Amino acid sequence: MLNDKKILYSGMQATGTLTLGNYLGALKNWVNLNEEYECIYGVMDLHSLTVRQNPAEFRKNARSLYALYVAAGLNPEKNCIYYQSHVPGHAQLSWILGCFTYMGELNRMTQFKDKSAKHTDNINAGLYTYPVLMAADILLYQADVVPVGQDQKQHLEITRDIAQRFNAVYGEVFTVPKAYIPKAGAKIMSLADPQKKMSKSEENPNASIWLMDDRDSIIRKFKRAVTDSDTVVRYAKEKPGISNLMDIYSCVTGKNYDEIEKEFKGKGYGDFKLAVGEAVADELAPLQKRYTELMADKTYIESMIKMNDEKAAFYAAKTLRKVHKKVGLTEMIK
Ligand code: TRP
Repeated sequence: MLNDKKILYSGMQATGTLTLGNYLGALKNWVNLNEEYECIYGVMDLHSLTVRQNPAEFRKNARSLYALYVAAGLNPEKNCIYYQSHVPGHAQLSWILGCFTYMGELNRMTQFKDKSAKHTDNINAGLYTYPVLMAADILLYQADVVPVGQDQKQHLEITRDIAQRFNAVYGEVFTVPKAYIPKAGAKIMSLADPQKKMSKSEENPNASIWLMDDRDSIIRKFKRAVTDSDTVVRYAKEKPGISNLMDIYSCVTGKNYDEIEKEFKGKGYGDFKLAVGEAVADELAPLQKRYTELMADKTYIESMIKMNDEKAAFYAAKTLRKVHKKVGLTEMIK
């Protein structure tokens, strides 16, 4: 890399539209790491293929994810924001790493177990080797840190195991990445069922806030959020609904739980819900505006994609050459 900053790598699948949970739990934190690290963010479209996609919709979602990254504040002129499928090294390294991964390890992946239970009609090999491709994503760029949510920790563990196993045979080829669990940015739960994570693949329209929801829908959904029969705004394990709303309010306003409890002392849940809804709508408004502008400016966004694809491909090719050499693959004769 060009400077001595540590390398940060992350990405999201290019499936569906993002929720407030994706934004507060990941995207917003990524923006805060912009300066500290050399950041690389992928639109993880190859991973999305583990589930059947409608091609036209899929293309649209991938572009929309790219624009959302930028609209949220990731700078494509400074960070490398690119499409996974545009860099062939991911698939290439994934094959090699697959030969260093045991089926026993993949069998233990909880996400594989969950996803195959959910899609019993399509338990494909891609779903099974998903963590290997993810390891390739990360190791290809010699990432030092990977900000991930709790649900991806196991995938990061296996990435580290694969890297260490490979390094033990061939020397220090890969940087062994560390998980970066952000301080701020709680796990945002469903508004309809605060025991469940707010999900992209949610069917209940009141459960998730979509990043492109308009102000009225946002406020309406917060007004309907499931809470409890108490009336006091207080953070507590037995009050998951209110605690979730407090997390959201805290992420958006920067206030801590004490401050929030004071602010709403003597007021009911109604006032609090309205305040959360308004704060979220205010937070998302500039992002939405920027997103709309970006989606209309095809030339700009495509020039950014092109530039960053090339940048990513350059880094990736470098690692891949090294790996090929180490394992004894020969070069193409020119
Ligand atoms: N599996 C991640 C998710 O669903 C997405 C992902 C793919 C990823 N490759 C990655 C995240 C590499 C971090 C690093 O959230």
